[in-house]
Amino acid sequence: MVLMLKLLVFGPSGSMGTLISRLALQDEEIKIVAACDVKNIGEKLADVIGSSDPNNIIITDSTDLDKIIKETQPDVAVDFTVAEATEANSIICVENGISCIIGTTGLSEEFLIKFKTKVEENNVPAVLSSNMATGVNVYFKMISIISKYLQDWDIEIIEAHHHRKVDSPSGTALTLGEIISEAINCDFDEVAKFGRDKGPNKREIGAKNEIGVHSIRAGDIVGDHIVLYAGSGERIEFKHQAHSRDCFATGAIKAIKFIVNQTEPKIFEMRDVLSLR
Ligand SMILES: NC(=O)c1ccc[n+]([C@@H]2O[C@H](COP(=O)([O-])OP(=O)(O)OC[C@H]3O[C@@H](n4cnc5c(N)ncnc54)[C@H](O)[C@@H]3O)[C@@H](O)[C@H]2O)c1
Repeated sequence: MVLMLKLLVFGPSGSMGTLISRLALQDEEIKIVAACDVKNIGEKLADVIGSSDPNNIIITDSTDLDKIIKETQPDVAVDFTVAEATEANSIICVENGISCIIGTTGLSEEFLIKFKTKVEENNVPAVLSSNMATGVNVYFKMISIISKYLQDWDIEIIEAHHHRKVDSPSGTALTLGEIISEAINCDFDEVAKFGRDKGPNKREIGAKNEIGVHSIRAGDIVGDHIVLYAGSGERIEFKHQAHSRDCFATGAIKAIKFIVNQTEPKIFEMRDVLSLR
């Protein structure tokens, strides 16, 4: 049991990094020991995120991450940045024995395979989740159950996010596709149909033939996901909406506290953190 856990924050200048840093600074169990970004380097974390910080942490870049780790000895690193940065920094963290909480989306398949190997080889547990909100993870569980009963219906996923979002479809939409596919015994890579263009669009009935995934990018929408089940003469839509990013940041703090008490060298999901298995 770690009493005061030492935290390295990647991306404190960003939307998620700011919220997570604010929550961590208010939490008696967490001490931020380092903050790395490509913006606001040399500035005080407290000034950048608009919060008080008794430790006067200065934002640094992560080019010499090994040195930062040696000097500050974090237990956990939390990373909500961009795929390229996460893919490099999280490997260095794990090699140095630091557990990672990864919220960044759009990570490559190659990275995910390498990261799993590194976690196992170095005996360092991690949490990786495309969506750390409690409600969404309960929603995932519901979708898994409902899909089993409606596998002969057409199933489509519709997601909407703010126009700054770089990846499409959202990591959460892809997770929904995987959950539905697992529930109805098919391979999401084979049945996923991303958007519908002008060409022929002949669909056979039933989700096992095709699961459509559609993305909307508009304004400042924090994150909406709908799973639409359509049968003959009726349909059901299940919707989750995030009103603010606070739900993700709160989930990240739960994951940070969870991981320091894990001994199994594996990549955990939010359903483990939230006891939803
Ligand atoms: N898992 C979840 O629950 C969840 C929730 C919201 C957002 N996200 C994901 O988190 C990521 C960040 O989202 P955001 O809205 O905070 O983005 P943002 O653009 O506001 O912030 C990203 C931050 O990362 C920083 N950054 C870029 N390269 C870096 C590097 N090499 N080292 C350190 N920092 C670096 C940027 O300067 C910026 O401050 C995205 O991938 C998004 O999809 C996940």
